[in-house]
Amino acid sequence: MDKRVSKIVKGLHGEIEIPSDKSISHRAVMFSSLAKGKSLIKNFSQGKDPLSSLKVFQAMRVDARFIDNGTLEIFSTGQLTPPAAALDCGNSGTTMRLVSGILAGQKFNSVLTGDESLSKRPMKRVIEPLELMGAKITSVDNHAPLNIWGQKLHGIDYVSKLASAQVKSCILLAGMFAEGRTTVTEPYVSRDHTERMLKYMGADIITSDKTVSIAKSELCPQIIEVCGDISSAAYFIAAALIVPNSKIVLKNVGLNPTRTGIIDVVQNMGGNIKILDKREVSGEDVGDIEIGYSELTGCNISGEIIPRLIDELPVIAVLATQAKGETVVKDAKDLRNKESDRISAIVTELRKIGAEIDELDDGFVVHGKTRLSGGVEIETYHDHRLAMSMYVAGLICEREILIKDFDWVNISFPEFCGCFEGLVI
Ligand code: S3P
Repeated sequence: MDKRVSKIVKGLHGEIEIPSDKSISHRAVMFSSLAKGKSLIKNFSQGKDPLSSLKVFQAMRVDARFIDNGTLEIFSTGQLTPPAAALDCGNSGTTMRLVSGILAGQKFNSVLTGDESLSKRPMKRVIEPLELMGAKITSVDNHAPLNIWGQKLHGIDYVSKLASAQVKSCILLAGMFAEGRTTVTEPYVSRDHTERMLKYMGADIITSDKTVSIAKSELCPQIIEVCGDISSAAYFIAAALIVPNSKIVLKNVGLNPTRTGIIDVVQNMGGNIKILDKREVSGEDVGDIEIGYSELTGCNISGEIIPRLIDELPVIAVLATQAKGETVVKDAKDLRNKESDRISAIVTELRKIGAEIDELDDGFVVHGKTRLSGGVEIETYHDHRLAMSMYVAGLICEREILIKDFDWVNISFPEFCGCFEGLVI
């Protein structure tokens, strides 16, 4: 499906509930599948990626079903049954990388496959540490399909070169089935949903600054309420900031400090943003965000903040086109290994509509403020975040844009268009 997007004149107004967090939904279904007894996950994401994780565990005979729109009930024996066929992770890197950690220490063999895009994404980052733990994995030159031959694992002390929550989580999950303690240290802290949820479910896990360690643990089933996804909220934050006359409130947004880099950047750029009613839900910080049209100034984004906003960088590039001066993003080379090469993709598509943006090996430089012309066709590179970022850009283009293959948004945010339409007068 292609999507036409045109300029909004009267601004965005009103209040919306931000749909369920993708990262937390993945973990909720995975960890509940390992916990003996009945778990309840409220507000489970309807995105295709978390549904890929759900299907993977259903294929290992975990009894998981929706009892209403967003509530998933899971009955687990605490044991996984050998899958009868290859487990399809779809487009989801989180599914493949986290599940490979769980499967490496099982008493059976398994195969993980993915779609064309996932099959091109690097898996060495998880194969290498898992092999150090005693895992046996064969792959196609460190890419999917992954053949995992279940082995007895032992704990390791791993110092990762990457600040990656997927790598960290994979090792910690393998550590839950390994003899001895497993420790992971990252260069910068990445999102810590795994650590929080495992703690919430009773695992023997200790965190200290950039280091996390875990020992063999049995998980207790819980009721988990999944908050709204700050990565989805980011498109509305950006839109309200750049569409004149806007003022909106985004309800029930996850505010875990390892994910709130976007809020720090907006504040640094001089944006009008307020956090209301901060609270804690199922071990995660949650609040409402009030945001309005603002005069923005460019800023520098690099170092420790990168993992705290890695998925928001494409929409930050859009935001930067409307900020006075230069916005420089560095230390973000791993953006090239996402669902698409997001550095090259966002630079190419923003240039098409008149943005002044230079590509760097590990980021980009945006020169603002520029009028965006539009009147062109936009590619999405089979990447949901590219599609949604360019939709936001389309809201301020002089002429309509046509975004091709827009249904890739269903990977994380099937409610995207409905939410936007709810804010237009
Ligand atoms: C995720 C971690 C990040 C992020 C991805 C989701 C997760 O990836 O980009 O969308 O749920 O753990 P990396 O760990 O590869 O940085």
